[in-house]
Amino acid sequence: MRGLGRRASRPEPPFYFAARGDTISSVAPDPGDVCQTPPPYVCQLWLERSAVATALCLLAPAVDERLVDVGTGTGEVLRQLARRSIVPREVTGIDASEAMLARVGPLPPGWLLRVGDVRALDQPDASFDVLIASYLLQLLTPVELPAALGELRRVLRPGGRLVTVTPAIPPSGLARPVANALDRLAERQSERYRGLRALNPASSLERAGFRLLRSRWSLRGYPSVCVLAIRPEHGPERE
Ligand SMILES: C[S@@+](CC[C@H](N)C(=O)[O-])C[C@H]1O[C@@H](n2cnc3c(N)ncnc32)[C@H](O)[C@@H]1O
Repeated sequence: MRGLGRRASRPEPPFYFAARGDTISSVAPDPGDVCQTPPPYVCQLWLERSAVATALCLLAPAVDERLVDVGTGTGEVLRQLARRSIVPREVTGIDASEAMLARVGPLPPGWLLRVGDVRALDQPDASFDVLIASYLLQLLTPVELPAALGELRRVLRPGGRLVTVTPAIPPSGLARPVANALDRLAERQSERYRGLRALNPASSLERAGFRLLRSRWSLRGYPSVCVLAIRPEHGPERE
């Protein structure tokens, strides 16, 4: 009841998919009450869970690896990772929004959260062995995307693996019209729903110097594609 009272007096928070540091940081962090602030954010997380699980299976981080989750949000990836039987030795979550990070909740000892922008990460070159970017890339403009992928490549060591998760339009099947409808909604009301924009980043990843390993569709929840790629051992230091 306490939560309901507070919700009624609060202005409508920005919708989850409009979440960026600048728009959401005005909402006071309230870690004990994440289902109330902002409701659309937490209450739709289940639509992402299956794709995040698929991505973590594809990435298969090993116990001696250093993992970074870029665009951590409220920590769905980190929570799933913590429940796996094999957990990497170092885990860092990075997000542009301090307010989103404030909602992550308790993490295993030693796991780090940092505020940072994927377009200009303040991590040294080759700091990580494996990287996940879940429901982040579709938020970027076509101009921002190559710079962001260049940054992801830079902070991964040569031979390191990356997995991305984005909403996408499957080639066929019942999920295709659903994905098309979500993509149209994102286009029509981009301020509110741009996070639903369909994006298959495979060709952009190749242009940024990654080698594609495999991809997998996840059709439970938001129709999404998970793409696994590697930073080749040999290649230009900068694209
Ligand atoms: C849709 S949420 C995804 C959260 C989480 N990865 C998940 O799968 O549930 C997108 C997150 O990306 C963050 N974000 C948006 N633009 C960013 C940027 N330029 N750099 C870093 N994080 C960004 C937002 O603050 C938000 O927390």
